[in-house]
Amino acid sequence: MTRNNIVLIGMMGSGKSTIGKLLASGLGFEFIDTDSIIEEREGKIIPEIFARSGEEYFRQVETSVLKEVLEKEKCVISCGGGVVETLKNIDFLQSAEKVFYLDADSRVLYDRIPIDGSRPKVSTYKNFEKLYEARRPKYLGCSKYTIHADRNPIEVVQEIMRQL
Ligand code: S3P
Repeated sequence: MTRNNIVLIGMMGSGKSTIGKLLASGLGFEFIDTDSIIEEREGKIIPEIFARSGEEYFRQVETSVLKEVLEKEKCVISCGGGVVETLKNIDFLQSAEKVFYLDADSRVLYDRIPIDGSRPKVSTYKNFEKLYEARRPKYLGCSKYTIHADRNPIEVVQEIMRQL
Protein backbone atom coordinates (compact mmCIF):
# COMPACT_ATOMS: atom_id res chain seq x y z
CA MET A 1 0.00 0.00 0.00
CA THR A 2 2.15 2.94 -1.18
CA ARG A 3 0.02 6.01 -0.94
CA ASN A 4 2.30 8.51 0.74
CA ASN A 5 0.07 8.67 3.75
CA ILE A 6 1.49 9.36 7.17
CA VAL A 7 -0.29 7.61 10.00
CA LEU A 8 -0.05 8.69 13.63
CA ILE A 9 -0.81 6.26 16.41
CA GLY A 10 -0.40 6.42 20.17
CA MET A 11 -2.28 6.77 23.40
CA MET A 12 -4.79 9.48 24.16
CA GLY A 13 -2.84 12.59 25.11
CA SER A 14 0.08 11.85 22.81
CA GLY A 15 -0.75 14.86 20.64
CA LYS A 16 -1.76 13.01 17.45
CA SER A 17 -4.27 15.68 16.39
CA THR A 18 -2.13 18.72 17.20
CA ILE A 19 0.93 17.22 15.56
CA GLY A 20 -1.06 15.79 12.67
CA LYS A 21 -2.55 19.19 11.79
CA LEU A 22 0.84 20.91 11.90
CA LEU A 23 2.46 18.16 9.88
CA ALA A 24 -0.31 18.15 7.28
CA SER A 25 -0.11 21.90 6.80
CA GLY A 26 3.69 21.75 6.55
CA LEU A 27 3.54 19.05 3.88
CA GLY A 28 0.46 20.33 2.04
CA PHE A 29 -1.34 17.09 2.91
CA GLU A 30 -4.95 16.63 4.00
CA PHE A 31 -5.43 16.07 7.74
CA ILE A 32 -7.78 13.26 8.70
CA ASP A 33 -8.86 12.37 12.23
CA THR A 34 -10.61 8.99 12.31
CA ASP A 35 -12.55 9.91 15.47
CA SER A 36 -14.00 12.99 13.76
CA ILE A 37 -15.11 10.92 10.76
CA ILE A 38 -16.76 8.38 13.07
CA GLU A 39 -18.60 11.18 14.91
CA GLU A 40 -19.78 12.74 11.66
CA ARG A 41 -21.01 9.42 10.26
CA GLU A 42 -22.79 8.43 13.41
CA GLY A 43 -24.14 11.91 14.11
CA LYS A 44 -23.05 11.48 17.73
CA ILE A 45 -20.03 12.26 19.82
CA ILE A 46 -17.83 9.36 20.93
CA PRO A 47 -19.09 9.05 24.53
CA GLU A 48 -22.64 8.79 23.16
CA ILE A 49 -21.65 6.08 20.69
CA PHE A 50 -20.03 4.11 23.52
CA ALA A 51 -23.01 4.63 25.81
CA ARG A 52 -25.73 3.81 23.27
CA SER A 53 -24.13 1.23 21.00
CA GLY A 54 -21.17 -0.06 23.00
CA GLU A 55 -17.44 -0.19 22.43
CA GLU A 56 -17.64 -3.18 20.10
CA TYR A 57 -19.82 -1.23 17.69
CA PHE A 58 -17.47 1.77 17.91
CA ARG A 59 -14.53 -0.52 17.05
CA GLN A 60 -16.37 -1.89 14.00
CA VAL A 61 -16.98 1.60 12.67
CA GLU A 62 -13.38 2.54 13.48
CA THR A 63 -12.11 -0.39 11.39
CA SER A 64 -14.19 0.50 8.36
CA VAL A 65 -13.16 4.16 8.60
CA LEU A 66 -9.48 3.22 8.94
CA LYS A 67 -9.63 0.92 5.91
CA GLU A 68 -11.28 3.64 3.88
CA VAL A 69 -8.91 6.48 4.80
CA LEU A 70 -5.81 4.36 4.19
CA GLU A 71 -6.95 4.13 0.56
CA LYS A 72 -6.58 7.89 0.17
CA GLU A 73 -3.37 9.62 -0.85
CA LYS A 74 -1.25 12.34 0.68
CA CYS A 75 -3.01 12.41 3.99
CA VAL A 76 -1.86 12.68 7.56
CA ILE A 77 -4.13 10.28 9.42
CA SER A 78 -4.57 10.53 13.16
CA CYS A 79 -5.99 7.32 14.64
CA GLY A 80 -7.88 6.95 17.90
CA GLY A 81 -5.74 5.58 20.71
CA GLY A 82 -7.59 2.26 20.72
CA VAL A 83 -6.95 1.51 17.06
CA VAL A 84 -4.59 -1.29 18.09
CA GLU A 85 -7.36 -3.03 20.04
CA THR A 86 -8.61 -4.60 16.78
CA LEU A 87 -6.51 -7.23 15.01
CA LYS A 88 -7.70 -6.22 11.56
CA ASN A 89 -6.48 -2.67 12.20
CA ILE A 90 -3.05 -4.00 13.14
CA ASP A 91 -2.92 -5.77 9.77
CA PHE A 92 -3.90 -2.59 7.97
CA LEU A 93 -1.31 -0.54 9.85
CA GLN A 94 1.40 -3.10 9.21
CA SER A 95 0.84 -2.74 5.48
CA ALA A 96 0.75 1.05 5.60
CA GLU A 97 4.01 2.75 4.74
CA LYS A 98 4.75 5.41 7.29
CA VAL A 99 3.29 4.74 10.67
CA PHE A 100 4.62 6.87 13.50
CA TYR A 101 4.05 5.94 17.12
CA LEU A 102 3.96 8.98 19.39
CA ASP A 103 5.11 7.86 22.80
CA ALA A 104 5.64 9.47 26.19
CA ASP A 105 5.57 8.45 29.81
CA SER A 106 2.11 7.25 30.87
CA ARG A 107 1.89 9.87 33.64
CA VAL A 108 2.64 12.68 31.18
CA LEU A 109 -0.01 11.38 28.80
CA TYR A 110 -2.62 10.97 31.51
CA ASP A 111 -2.05 14.48 32.84
CA ARG A 112 -2.65 15.89 29.37
CA ILE A 113 -6.10 14.34 28.98
CA PRO A 114 -8.95 16.68 29.84
CA ILE A 115 -11.33 15.29 32.47
CA ASP A 116 -14.44 16.28 30.54
CA GLY A 117 -16.07 12.94 29.78
CA SER A 118 -14.97 13.06 26.14
CA ARG A 119 -12.93 9.85 26.44
CA PRO A 120 -14.91 6.89 27.73
CA LYS A 121 -11.79 4.73 28.14
CA VAL A 122 -10.24 7.03 30.73
CA SER A 123 -10.89 6.73 34.43
CA THR A 124 -8.17 6.51 37.07
CA TYR A 125 -4.45 6.77 36.41
CA LYS A 126 -4.04 3.11 37.48
CA ASN A 127 -6.42 1.97 34.74
CA PHE A 128 -4.82 4.24 32.21
CA GLU A 129 -1.39 2.85 33.05
CA LYS A 130 -2.68 -0.71 32.56
CA LEU A 131 -4.11 0.23 29.19
CA TYR A 132 -0.82 1.92 28.25
CA GLU A 133 1.20 -1.14 29.16
CA ALA A 134 -1.11 -3.50 27.31
CA ARG A 135 -1.14 -1.35 24.18
CA ARG A 136 2.50 -0.29 24.02
CA PRO A 137 3.81 -3.55 22.43
CA LYS A 138 0.99 -3.35 19.89
CA TYR A 139 1.86 0.23 18.94
CA LEU A 140 5.49 -0.80 18.60
CA GLY A 141 4.50 -3.82 16.50
CA CYS A 142 2.64 -1.82 13.90
CA SER A 143 4.79 1.30 13.58
CA LYS A 144 8.05 1.83 11.78
CA TYR A 145 9.07 4.85 13.81
CA THR A 146 8.73 5.72 17.48
CA ILE A 147 8.77 9.42 18.20
CA HIS A 148 9.25 10.82 21.66
CA ALA A 149 6.22 13.06 22.14
CA ASP A 150 6.97 14.70 25.48
CA ARG A 151 8.20 17.94 23.96
CA ASN A 152 7.07 20.92 21.98
CA PRO A 153 4.75 19.88 19.07
CA ILE A 154 6.93 21.80 16.59
CA GLU A 155 9.93 19.70 17.60
CA VAL A 156 7.88 16.53 17.21
CA VAL A 157 6.82 17.62 13.72
CA GLN A 158 10.43 18.40 12.79
CA GLU A 159 11.52 14.99 14.03
CA ILE A 160 8.85 13.27 11.92
CA MET A 161 9.86 15.32 8.88
CA ARG A 162 13.48 14.27 9.34
CA GLN A 163 12.39 10.63 9.15
CA LEU A 164 10.41 11.02 5.92
C1 S3P B 1 -9.86 5.79 22.56
C2 S3P B 1 -9.22 6.94 22.18
C3 S3P B 1 -9.94 8.10 21.62
C4 S3P B 1 -11.24 7.64 20.96
C5 S3P B 1 -12.05 6.82 21.90
C6 S3P B 1 -11.32 5.57 22.35
C7 S3P B 1 -9.08 4.69 23.18
O1 S3P B 1 -9.12 8.75 20.65
O2 S3P B 1 -10.98 6.92 19.78
O3 S3P B 1 -12.38 7.63 23.00
O4 S3P B 1 -9.57 3.56 23.30
O5 S3P B 1 -7.90 4.96 23.55
P1 S3P B 1 -7.86 9.71 21.02
O6 S3P B 1 -6.68 8.83 21.20
O7 S3P B 1 -7.74 10.57 19.81
O8 S3P B 1 -8.22 10.48 22.23
